[in-house]
Amino acid sequence: MIKGFLFDLDGVIVDTAVFHFRAWRKVSRKLGGDFTEAQNEQLKGINRVDSLKKIVEWTKAEVDDLQFQALQEQKNQWYLDLVSGLGPNDALPGAINFLRQTHSKGILIALGSASKNAPMVLKKLGITELFGAIIDGNNVINGKPHPEVFLKGANSLGLKPSECLVFEDSIAGVKAAKQAGMASVGIGEAETLQADLHFNSIGETTPEYLLTHF
Ligand code: BG6
Ligand code: MG
Repeated sequence: MIKGFLFDLDGVIVDTAVFHFRAWRKVSRKLGGDFTEAQNEQLKGINRVDSLKKIVEWTKAEVDDLQFQALQEQKNQWYLDLVSGLGPNDALPGAINFLRQTHSKGILIALGSASKNAPMVLKKLGITELFGAIIDGNNVINGKPHPEVFLKGANSLGLKPSECLVFEDSIAGVKAAKQAGMASVGIGEAETLQADLHFNSIGETTPEYLLTHF
């Protein structure tokens, strides 16, 4: 029986996946390369260091340790500039309503995000208090597709993996949920994500429906 919902943040609750994409694209161009929307699917859900490793690999640029560090900081600064004006209206369709319904039904809620900026984004959306646990890029050693972020989320809520349902928009995140032994709802294309159930946005479903389905 499902007792807790574990949410990814970027691309599930809020439309920030596009900001990560734009900022990484700038990094890529700075290194003399570029990447496609399809390649971007491989970056979704991937933490900052591992994302930059992929971009360096794709561009075939020579990057020493100091430059690697500087590029991470530069990307984050570009990302912070893009999210500086973020507010509740930037939440994805139906997401905040869905979270409030979940909360009022007594279903436990945790965040399972790769982003070190997640607490700040939740604050801007005004939804921090809905979360019983917040696990983000600052609290894990292993990035998605490793299951650590979701296992820690379940543990913080006092739940077993089989009692949790994960909401994800990334290939890496769905893999992480599977490796954690959790069911998953994919936000995006079924063919790409391979989750147990798919919607274009969380607002297309309800907590009640999901509790009966899983
Ligand atoms: C994930 C995003 O949520 O967080 C990735 O899908 C991003 O695109 C990752 O790279 C890390 O984010 P941050 O804010 O710690 O650089
Ligand atoms: Mg995401």
